[in-house]
Amino acid sequence: MIGIILAGGTGTRLLPLTKVTNKHLLPVYDKPMIYYPLETLINAGIKEIIIVTGKEHAGNFMALLASGTEFGARFAYVLQEGAGGIAEAIGLTEHFAGGDSVVVMLGDNVLFDDISSEINSFREGCKIFLKEVQDPERFGVPEFERDGRIINIEEKPKIPKSKFAVTGLYIYDSTVFDRIRALKPSARGELEVTDLNNAYLKDGKLSYGFIKGQWIDAGTIENLHLASNLVKNKTRTKS
Ligand code: DAU
Repeated sequence: MIGIILAGGTGTRLLPLTKVTNKHLLPVYDKPMIYYPLETLINAGIKEIIIVTGKEHAGNFMALLASGTEFGARFAYVLQEGAGGIAEAIGLTEHFAGGDSVVVMLGDNVLFDDISSEINSFREGCKIFLKEVQDPERFGVPEFERDGRIINIEEKPKIPKSKFAVTGLYIYDSTVFDRIRALKPSARGELEVTDLNNAYLKDGKLSYGFIKGQWIDAGTIENLHLASNLVKNKTRTKS
């Protein structure tokens, strides 16, 4: 399985911090943000990782991460012109995926679970990972049937149908690229990851698990600060 880290987008929620740099290069405590999703994948045994980013800061990612040798992995870089959405960014990696399944992580997601068993046991379809949160309206939110099946996922619903967020960790089989080609842009002009996940759901091919440890989407000022504190406390507990 190959890994994909999405580090494009505009980072407008973090302005002016993102005026001259990319969100994923900002510090989360003692490391650039992108190190966290990279470490989650590498610690799970993923050694081939594609980093998707915009052309403005691509050179900085290469200068920071280089070939991946330092991380015991191999990195490749793909450019996304503009911010056409998470599903568009995944679609750009088709050539590298070479018919394999892919594990995708959003570059602003920080989590500490060991996901290796999820990766090793994955066979087909799509697997998403949920976390109970206080503010589900900021995320993709699943709606459940009484038997626990997910029947729909809504992107940033005004009235969320559950307390769970769909986190930025996704595993897809190789049908993902055909499914992305069939998506239509949303009202905000993006190919949405939630529409992609709903396409799997419609075919009965979506399964889910939970993130057991802490999870933060560090894409707002408040959460960037929270993420730094979380890592600081973890580092302190270890030493
Ligand atoms: O963090 C989990 C949430 O991430 C999910 O619950 C939502 O369903 C999903 O849409 C996403 O919501 P966000 O509002 O947090 O998405 P954001 O625009 O911040 O993009 C998330 C990451 O994806 C970001 O770190 C950069 C990358 N990205 C985003 C876009 C729109 C790209 O690489 N290219 C893009 O075009």
